[in-house]
Order: sequence, then structure tokens, then C-alpha cells
Amino acid sequence: MQKWIMSGLFFVACVFAIVLLFTLPGKDQVAQEAKPTMPEVTLDAAQAEAVVKASCIACHGDQLQGQSGPNLQTIGTVLSAEQLYSTISKGKGGGMMPSFKDKLKDEEIANVALWLSEKK
Ligand code: HEC
Repeated sequence: MQKWIMSGLFFVACVFAIVLLFTLPGKDQVAQEAKPTMPEVTLDAAQAEAVVKASCIACHGDQLQGQSGPNLQTIGTVLSAEQLYSTISKGKGGGMMPSFKDKLKDEEIANVALWLSEKK
């Protein structure tokens, strides 16, 4: 009788472990969310300027000189294209810098990141 209970419990534990295995996000997935990978794009300066004009200058100033958001005129000396991509995608400062991953295409964000990374 007791053996029967033990193997029953063991079976339930196994099923539980298997379910967890498939429902918990893997390490890869977590790492990806923490640092999104930037898609490869070739710089299109005209498109970058258009996106920045439409989405960024309200806070960063029309010359990127800074306003409610910080100056970005030499941001390329501080952040790499990947870091810029990550910041623009996810936002910063608890929403003070908004997340753009649902507002812009990944390629548009990557293009702006590349464009900003050359601001040195
Ligand atoms: C609603 C205002 C607002 C808009 C719109 C906005 N930003 Fe920001 N941004 C901020 C603020 C505020 C910060 C500073 C956040 C912090 O450091 O806590 C910031 C920070 C940043 C940083 C990080 C600077 C650093 O030194 O780490 C980058 C890069 C940046 N913004 C780029 C952009 C780009 C590109 C766009 C347009 C796609 C944009 N921002 C649109 C307000 C804004």
C-alpha cells in the first residue's frame, strides 16, 4: 500500500517537473529579453532623420541638444549601436524614456541606433 503511494507521488512529481521544464522560460529566452539582438541593417541616414524628427526631438531637442531628455549630439562616444538599439527598444528611466519596440519596426530602431552611434 505504502509503495503504491510512493510511486504515485513520484509519478506526480515527474509530471510536474516535465510541465515546468516546458513552461518556464529557458535561459536563452531570458537573456534575449534582457538584451534584444539588433537586426543587421545598412545605414539609411534619411530614414533615420525622419524617424528621429517624428519620434525623438520632442524630448531630445530638434538638434538633439537635449530638452526633457538628455543631449544625444555625441551619444556615439558613450554607447555602441547595440546599446543604443537596446535603450531605444526597451526605454529607460522607468518610462521617462519611452520604449519604442511597439511603435517602430526593429529595422527602424536599428537604423536610428546605427545613425546615433556615428554621432561623435
Ligand atoms: C517622452 C520623451 C522622450 C522621447 C519621445 C524620447 N526620449 Fe530618449 N530619453 C528621454 C529621457 C527622459 C531619457 C533619460 C532617461 C534616463 O537616463 O533615466 C532618455 C534617454 C535616451 C537615451 C540614453 C542616453 C544615455 O546617455 O544613456 C537614448 C539613446 C535616447 N533617449 C534616444 C532616443 C531616441 C532615438 C528617441 C526616438 C526614437 C527617443 N529617445 C525619444 C526622453 C525621451
